Amino acid sequence: MEIKFSKIALPKNGAIVIGVAEGAKLPAKAQEYDKLTGGALSRAVSVRDFKGKKGESVTLLAPAGMTADAVILTGLGKTKELDLVKLQALGGKIYAKLNCLKMKKMAIIVDALEEKMFASEEVAANIAFGVKLRSYRFDKYRTKEKEEDKPTVKSVTLMLDNATEAEAQFEKLEKIADGIFLARDVVSEPPNVIYPEAYAKRCKELEKLGVEVEILGVKEMEKLGMGSLLGVGQGSARESKLVVMQWHGGGKEHPLAFVGKGVTFDSGGLSLKPANGMEDMKYDMAGSAVVVGLMKALAGRKAKVNVVGIIGLVENMPDGNAQRPSDVVKSMSGQTIEVLNTDAEGRLVLADALWYCQHRFKPKFMVNLATLTGAIIVSLGSLYAGLFSNNDELSKKLTDAGNKVDEKLWRFPMSDEYDKQIDSDIADMQNIGTEKGAGSITAAQFLKRFVNDVPWAHLDIAGVAWAKKDSGLCPKGATGFGIRLLNQLVEEYYE
Ligand code: BES
Ligand code: ZN
Ligand code: ZN
Repeated sequence: MEIKFSKIALPKNGAIVIGVAEGAKLPAKAQEYDKLTGGALSRAVSVRDFKGKKGESVTLLAPAGMTADAVILTGLGKTKELDLVKLQALGGKIYAKLNCLKMKKMAIIVDALEEKMFASEEVAANIAFGVKLRSYRFDKYRTKEKEEDKPTVKSVTLMLDNATEAEAQFEKLEKIADGIFLARDVVSEPPNVIYPEAYAKRCKELEKLGVEVEILGVKEMEKLGMGSLLGVGQGSARESKLVVMQWHGGGKEHPLAFVGKGVTFDSGGLSLKPANGMEDMKYDMAGSAVVVGLMKALAGRKAKVNVVGIIGLVENMPDGNAQRPSDVVKSMSGQTIEVLNTDAEGRLVLADALWYCQHRFKPKFMVNLATLTGAIIVSLGSLYAGLFSNNDELSKKLTDAGNKVDEKLWRFPMSDEYDKQIDSDIADMQNIGTEKGAGSITAAQFLKRFVNDVPWAHLDIAGVAWAKKDSGLCPKGATGFGIRLLNQLVEEYYE
């Protein structure tokens, strides 16, 4: 699908979309089309009692007096309540609607809003961003899909006076979309295609954008003493990998660090998961995908900042060499871990990745992302991700950034009492809590034992990484949740 920007002109074909603010009179262009159609547009407005409320729309198909296929008025709601994220979601919804109407082309006319809150370039660029994000599709394995079942919209033109500036703004947003699409792609790929080695190769492609990419295999990780991460992968025929990505855009400053859980398939290991729903565990690498997508977005838009991205890639499988519940492993930190449940594997992977990250890079902060616990879904469903942190300032920045881009976080408590619940009788700690409940918190307490005093935050994204239904900016499936949030954090506070 192609996204273009041009000056306002009457499109010869395709659909024309015009936004109308709540309570406002029809914009100039709509009035012009009303005349061309002999008043049909204003009649449709009164027949539908259209007021420009959010979510309302009026569609005039094959209007007499015009060669265009449709004129669509779409409600913007109250102008005062509009923000950039709502404009993005509007773009996504328009795209979805026009596919339902089987339109091939559409032009969105961006008039200046009555109360000038945003420049029309910004409005156009953000609507286009929403269109782009919603247009994502993972269909490479569908060989028999009928043409009529595929999305019909092939071209979208944003029409406004200052098309050149809008296009320039969109280009920056498009780099973020590229990162999100990469993340959605790797999460959507089946686990027989994306296993640690294949995934690491995909990361290598970021070198084209100037990202430095290193891949550590089992030998290198053994030398480093990463017994915690390696224990998880030892029951799999696929070799575990650790991928280290660096973007140098900010001189000599210490880097910001992002660390991701990349379990390419989580069968649970010997603590095997039930068959029902096990297929969901192909997305147990979503945290790592956010890190890779973020690196792509930052490198793509040449962010003026130093960033390191580290992902631990393993497959959690139950073969004859698999680790057993009750095994004791030694992590890179020297701390020993009694593995009481092999299905609580994400924390074992992150423990070594976090330790390695802080010692090698001395980062300003570390943010890790992981589909870590089912318990976070019980707490928050799919609307918020869980935030756990040892640092109030970092937590606030993350929460604020999330609110700005509508990727919301909710902070959970952490404390010594919760920490005690992972003390083990025979090792330094155990990988599950001794008491029932608070599963997401004890998982976070476990990670905290591997971060020392580095400002750190853990985002448990198990509930938000995969969408069961379509929404404004995202068709159902892999969401890429976290990339817009972390890009906002980096841009607003660190560039
Ligand atoms: N990958 C799962 C968590 C998960 C569940 C992610 C649902 C996405 C959707 C994780 O490795 C896991 O299995 N956690 C266990 C921990 C338990 C054994 C302490 C869980 O949440 O049940
Ligand atoms: Zn698990
Ligand atoms: Zn897992």
